[in-house]
Amino acid sequence: MFEKNILCIGAGYVGGPTMAVIADKCPHCKITVADINPERIAAWNSDRLPIYEPGLEEIIKRTRGKNLFFTADINRGIRENDIIFVGVNTPTKDFGVGAGMAADLQYWEKTARQILENAESSKIVVEKCTLPVKTALAMERILISTNNAIRFDVLSNPEFLAEGSAINDLENPDRILIGSRETPSGIKARDTLVEIYANWVPREKIITSNIWSSELSKLVSNAFLAQRISSINAISVICEKTDADVGEVAKAVGLDDRIGPKFLNASVGFGGSCFKKDILNLVYLCRQHNLDAVADYWEGIIKINQYQQERFILNMLDAMFHTLVDKRICLLGFAFKANTGDTRESPAIFIAKRLLEEKAEVVVSDPKALDNARKDLAGESRTEAVSYIEDPYRAAEECHAVAVLTEWDLYRKLDYRKIYDVMHKPAFIFDGRNILDHRKCYDMGFNVYSIGKPPLTHF
Ligand SMILES: NC(=O)c1ccc[n+]([C@@H]2O[C@H](COP(=O)([O-])OP(=O)(O)OC[C@H]3O[C@@H](n4cnc5c(N)ncnc54)[C@H](O)[C@@H]3O)[C@@H](O)[C@H]2O)c1
Repeated sequence: MFEKNILCIGAGYVGGPTMAVIADKCPHCKITVADINPERIAAWNSDRLPIYEPGLEEIIKRTRGKNLFFTADINRGIRENDIIFVGVNTPTKDFGVGAGMAADLQYWEKTARQILENAESSKIVVEKCTLPVKTALAMERILISTNNAIRFDVLSNPEFLAEGSAINDLENPDRILIGSRETPSGIKARDTLVEIYANWVPREKIITSNIWSSELSKLVSNAFLAQRISSINAISVICEKTDADVGEVAKAVGLDDRIGPKFLNASVGFGGSCFKKDILNLVYLCRQHNLDAVADYWEGIIKINQYQQERFILNMLDAMFHTLVDKRICLLGFAFKANTGDTRESPAIFIAKRLLEEKAEVVVSDPKALDNARKDLAGESRTEAVSYIEDPYRAAEECHAVAVLTEWDLYRKLDYRKIYDVMHKPAFIFDGRNILDHRKCYDMGFNVYSIGKPPLTHF
């Protein structure tokens, strides 16, 4: 007999790891994770998990079958559990009103209706998804629409984990935020959730707020993080024009206590399923309220990010004598960041597509993301010009250039002399993550182009 029965609807990058950690930290709770996609559930129940996160496999081994269960039977899950997390996807809408801007809430709303149809007792419904402000109100309206005797309390509990360090972030969160209605029953529901987190999170890190502040805080948090990246990337462009070094500038600036050193690495740009989507969400919210100046301000972050990716290609063209036709370019890394296989919105997708447009041959290498990379590039014309080779040394063979697109630790440690020897000359490195020893590569014979630093060339 378990003390609490918890369901999570949505077994993705958030639902899977989050519930695994709750199961691990709360042996007295039974956790069920349900998903509409039976293949995903089968993968969670197999030895080949559907996502890669350091530390995840060990936790799944410890908990699966004991107090953590994966199922495709969502209706039964709803009937049998008292606390229901909703972690379904909320992508950017690609049709109709708000296309390319607003959140597509269809999966989320279907879940709300499914909870209503199947619930036989009162439930606490927890928004884990990132949603536009006031979505909880819509959830409440759907849930109370039949006026039956069942009580639903809706909480907002946004997830702040970062992919690649999800398990550590979940085990040692900076904060847990729980937004609720300030009614007696809203506060009771909130306290129930606080108790669950208090099993491993210090009380002072569990903060509560009104439900709209909680929803907005998640959007703002991602907007601020992305803003740091676009800020330093915008500075990298100035550095390239003025012979300043963005690494030196970031160090000097970041030593100011008020600014701090984190998230000041210039790069080819940010990716991931969240930053762009959540900023667009914020921009859309501003436009709906006729706050165009505010919307323009936040939209600038996305524009700089796109500019940075396009600039990467233009720099390659410029460096490689204005043509990439039939040149073989090795992409070291396809995941949007290190330690994940996730490629959603990865700059590598854009770079690969642009290279194909320039009639280059593309060799994609990545330790965890090749399956996703294949899917991402499947619909492109000239797919025959793409090959997928995990071993970076083999991937670089006969290439004219290597472009580092993901900051995997393994790429820092490669023997670049060995790589140089198997490449066409003149050999180029484009370090889109500024992780290599540029001087050393230059001394080996490479022409080295990084982000926001003077190039090191032999011409
Ligand atoms: N990925 C992140 O790093 C991250 C971090 C914080 C918050 N979030 C937010 O969490 C939410 C989920 O993100 P994700 O990355 O886990 O998405 P995901 O696409 O990896 O997973 C979502 C899952 O929901 C399932 N699903 C969709 N509709 C369903 C339905 N009606 N019933 C049951 N299952 C359904 C899908 O099959 C999928 O497996 C989003 O709102 C996202 O913005 C994501």
